Amino acid sequence: MLERVLSARRSPRGPEEDGDDESKTRKHASLAARAAKCAAGGGTAAFLTQCLAISLLLLLGSLFYRFGSLACEPQYESRPRLALFEDTDGQASDFGSLGVPWCKHLLCRSKQGKTVEWTRKDLLRGLEEFVPIYEARPIKNNKFGMGFDHSFGLWFTTRWLKPELMIESGAFKGHSTWVLRQAIPDTRIISLTPRHPEKYLNKGPAYVDGNCTYFAGKDFIDFGSVDWRAIMQKHGVSDLSRVLVFFDDHQNELKRLKQALKAGFQHLVFEDNYDTGTGDHYSLRQICDQFYIRGGGHSCFTDSDEARIRMTRKKFWEKAVDMEELCGEGETWWGVRGEMRDDFNHSNKAISYSEHFQNSRFVESVLDVYWELPPTAGPSLTHQTRYDPARTPDPIVEDGRYDLFQRLGLSRLETSVFNGYTQMVYLKISGPNS
Ligand SMILES: C[S@@+](CC[C@H](N)C(=O)[O-])C[C@H]1O[C@@H](n2cnc3c(N)ncnc32)[C@H](O)[C@@H]1O
Ligand SMILES: *[C@@H]1O[C@H](CO)[C@@H](O)[C@H](O)[C@H]1NC(C)=O
Ligand SMILES: *[C@@H]1O[C@H](CO)[C@@H](O)[C@H](O)[C@H]1NC(C)=O
Repeated sequence: MLERVLSARRSPRGPEEDGDDESKTRKHASLAARAAKCAAGGGTAAFLTQCLAISLLLLLGSLFYRFGSLACEPQYESRPRLALFEDTDGQASDFGSLGVPWCKHLLCRSKQGKTVEWTRKDLLRGLEEFVPIYEARPIKNNKFGMGFDHSFGLWFTTRWLKPELMIESGAFKGHSTWVLRQAIPDTRIISLTPRHPEKYLNKGPAYVDGNCTYFAGKDFIDFGSVDWRAIMQKHGVSDLSRVLVFFDDHQNELKRLKQALKAGFQHLVFEDNYDTGTGDHYSLRQICDQFYIRGGGHSCFTDSDEARIRMTRKKFWEKAVDMEELCGEGETWWGVRGEMRDDFNHSNKAISYSEHFQNSRFVESVLDVYWELPPTAGPSLTHQTRYDPARTPDPIVEDGRYDLFQRLGLSRLETSVFNGYTQMVYLKISGPNS
């Protein structure tokens, strides 16, 4: 029975996948090992719960497999990665073994397998236009705020969607408010942020927008406590599909998603979509990372392939996660060491694997589109050393394309602006039954 379920879960082969049989075998083996451990019986209540979860997952996994091929179609035409970089990195093929949830381009599964309208060409055109805009930004040093990649992602999606109203939660000195303003002139912005950006003006550059309503300082109110119906009425917005909400407030993204859903918003952008094992709040990326998914075979065994690869990659990439960061007590690997973090890590709650799994089911039930912004350019071009490229989609400008990197004006930017990428994500959501 187990054998049949496992072979039924075989991943579809996309045009980009070449020879990841090894990782597949390894993952099946580790799942089988867990299942066997369960079958052998004994152990604590927590262990038994985990066993129950595993059996359930095996069952569900075999059911969901059928829909997998739909969601795993590559979003863009794919080019082979250049051999040049594979040599220096040497580990491009470890992508699967490192556990990228589901597949390269679409990490959370949407209800109908839909994706965004824009193409890689549109992104390239957008980059060309955005670089000079970014160079004229008022806040040159935006440490603790957004760098180039996410500024571009926010500008691009906003300009594409052309909302009638933009809402921002978490403004800091106002850089993202400025980015929203560059995307659409004149349209109203509502900014929720505890400290008014004008307060930063006496220390240095900040941006305060003339057509922005600030809920800041003594007027600050958390996104989840706002009477959105009244605010929409006040601004004459009747169609909530014309509103874009941008979150950069380091709150549990599941909490924010539920609040946005309740208010009826449909277009959301999350700035910090932290990877499993990293970050100060529970993110969509973490929620959708499930071990039964192709390439997602997280294992906390210190002598596993995954552990070995993570160790090696740590030497190259500062933010690559090693086993110690990934795994908490009782081999909890989900979220951050089995915790659901919230509010800049001021609040932490241990969650069980089945809760984590339920969260992913919930998210997928309201998801029409999940699109992760790719990094702007490969690490050999940007010289970024922070995030692990094995855990991101392919960059817009791939390694080896220095001509293109230069033509787009990207070589003029200081390298530090490329160091903040954390898988910014655009979501289109709707209630579970629509
Ligand atoms: C990383 S910064 C935002 C960076 C900014 N978006 C940019 O473009 O540079 C996070 C901001 O969230 C604010 N913040 C903290 N709690 C918040 C909450 N509950 N709602 C909205 N903003 C919050 C912080 O004060 C801080 O200004
Ligand atoms: C605000 O938007 C209006 C159009 O709605 C525009 O005429 C005005 O110049 C804008 N004000 C500022 C300060 O940008
Ligand atoms: C987050 O909070 C936990 C528990 O309070 C603490 O152990 C951990 O070091 C914190 N992590 C970061 C990155 O601040």
